Amino acid sequence: MHSMRMLFPDAQAEIDPAVVYADLPTAAGRPAVRLNMIVSVDGGTAWNGVSGALGGPADKALFATLRSLADVVLVASGTMKAEHYGPALLPAAVQDARRARGQRPVPPIAVVSRRCDFDFDSPFFTAATERPMVVTVEAADADACTRAAKVADVVMAGERDVDLTRAVVELGARGFTNVLAEGGPTLNGDLAEHGLLDEVCVTLAPLLASGDAKRIIAGSSLDALEPVHIRSICADGDYLFLRYRPVS
Ligand SMILES: NC(=O)c1ccc[n+]([C@@H]2O[C@H](COP(=O)([O-])OP(=O)(O)OC[C@H]3O[C@@H](n4cnc5c(N)ncnc54)[C@H](OP(=O)(O)O)[C@@H]3O)[C@@H](O)[C@H]2O)c1
Repeated sequence: MHSMRMLFPDAQAEIDPAVVYADLPTAAGRPAVRLNMIVSVDGGTAWNGVSGALGGPADKALFATLRSLADVVLVASGTMKAEHYGPALLPAAVQDARRARGQRPVPPIAVVSRRCDFDFDSPFFTAATERPMVVTVEAADADACTRAAKVADVVMAGERDVDLTRAVVELGARGFTNVLAEGGPTLNGDLAEHGLLDEVCVTLAPLLASGDAKRIIAGSSLDALEPVHIRSICADGDYLFLRYRPVS
């Protein structure tokens, strides 16, 4: 049995992550984006190509808790495929609580892709009770987009690259006010470059991974170091759960 305790801002023997993390970030003029990632002590985001081995029960519980709070999940196609994403699943009581808050019972998942090259017969599309979204570009294969439109809402948000600002604003136009980004690092790089990371939740796993797995944010380069401040620190066993927000 795991139980999370808070170290900062208030030392508390036991906390309910659903209460601590209900403190969602906000953003002006668009939905706020909360990013959730797990990383080994030496900075690796994957082991043998997936993140699963890094997580313990508390991390998996937090992953579900963050989904239970989110209006919509945003994920890149590389992660969706590597991690064999299906639709989000939440217990009936959590779904009821979401309905009571005016949210959909489970958050739909929006997958970002340039190529729009998916297995449209996979459970991600066929088992979803909330229609998924494919966020793609004009340059994507037209037949693939037609096929996608049969099983998902297709959101065009750019010509060659998905313009993440446009994509997030488009999610706002569909009534979503908070977005849970689940990676991977390449997508996170684009989100960071566009100033779209309103909160970064990092689980620090008590593991050394070495290897060449990417950092949490990869691929882009910021013009300057971006200061963030710490919002909360929780712990469960040797796992640390850190939460940062931009200073301004
Ligand atoms: N530790 C963690 O918490 C965590 C979380 C998530 C993922 N991961 C790991 O990270 C790895 C995958 O990450 P990754 O960085 O290689 O790939 P990724 O970011 O998951 O996916 C990259 C793909 O997403 C699409 N994409 C991303 N940004 C785009 C943009 N601006 N416009 C259009 N398309 C865009 C492209 O898809 P198309 O190729 O379809 O065009 C691109 O090839 C996996 O090993 C996974 O297990 C770890």
